[in-house]
Amino acid sequence: MITIEASKKVCSPRQAAQLSRGLTPFLYQAHHAVGLGYPATIRVAAAVHQSQCAQSLTPCSGKRSFSTTGSNQLRDVFPIKDTPYIRQTPPAWEHPGYTEEEMRAVVPGHRKPETVGDWVAWKLVRLARWATDLATGIGRDQQVDMKNPTTALVAEKPLTEAQWLVRVIFLESIAGVPGMVGGMLRHLHSLRRMKRDNGWIETLLEESYNERMHLLTFMKVGAPGWFMKTMILGAQGVFFNAMFLSYLVSPKITHRFVGYLEEEAVHTYTRMLHEIERGDLPKWSDPKFEVPEIAVSYWRMPEGKRTMKDLILYIRADEAVHRGVNHTLSNLKQKEDPNPFVSEYRVGEEKRKPQAGLKPTGYERNDVIG
Ligand SMILES: [Fe+2]
Ligand SMILES: [Fe+2]
Repeated sequence: MITIEASKKVCSPRQAAQLSRGLTPFLYQAHHAVGLGYPATIRVAAAVHQSQCAQSLTPCSGKRSFSTTGSNQLRDVFPIKDTPYIRQTPPAWEHPGYTEEEMRAVVPGHRKPETVGDWVAWKLVRLARWATDLATGIGRDQQVDMKNPTTALVAEKPLTEAQWLVRVIFLESIAGVPGMVGGMLRHLHSLRRMKRDNGWIETLLEESYNERMHLLTFMKVGAPGWFMKTMILGAQGVFFNAMFLSYLVSPKITHRFVGYLEEEAVHTYTRMLHEIERGDLPKWSDPKFEVPEIAVSYWRMPEGKRTMKDLILYIRADEAVHRGVNHTLSNLKQKEDPNPFVSEYRVGEEKRKPQAGLKPTGYERNDVIG
């Protein structure tokens, strides 16, 4: 990274406001990523510091850490358009929130495949993991024990921050697809068959919304380059169509597939947490690193609990919910069973209401439907 002296510059109130939203004003090229063979894939954001001009709304000058990255890359990735009447647009689905204990209770887990459909889903996810490892440039020494790929956490060598970002941005761009496809197809089914859906659609759409919030959050930490954008574009084209056909043919196997995919997500974030805790990812272990404002407001992260580690705890808990929801939905009768996660239980049966995040293998039909 090359440090240069920033020229004197006056911040307009609007620029200052944008900066003060806790964005990442100082982006630099991930040099270690270049060394690993990811030259055009991602730029990692430096620790987010509120700039002096943002705090004071006055002319600012001074030393800043810039990279050789073009000035256009220093802009906010999602600049808010000023509108005459609208002040802000809050999220349509409020995050339910978690306690610290709930987030820490999440553990990687694995549901053993039982049926042929389970095996198909499991093997497809193995294939996806292999392709992702290959695309992320994960070396043999960075692999965990592949006999227990969704529960083993220790590898000889950690991933770099750039590798993590490539991985999570790619995965989150994919993870938002199945819920939307499932929700859309169930919505259309309800319309054309003139039947009730019993609460599945909202949960599936909310899941895809939540995944998109994960993606938007990571986009504030590091912005992908043209190569990765192209990969994401191609992957979405293939994955959307595959999910569409798969959900039409067998929603049961598709939910199992998503359940296994979410096992991978919980594993990914648990391993990332370990590496942050061990200090293997120095920028993200830095107490001065502040998570983006979009994350603070979406998860309502309390003051003093806004480090990268806190953020990953929230995201991992979300993934654990998706894992439990999809494994459970796969165990249900797809056309007739109500969604137990949004249902009210009869008096005396309330304890049967499932808590998705707590059950890595999902709930069996007999336990939640009867
Ligand atoms: Fe996610
Ligand atoms: Fe997920």
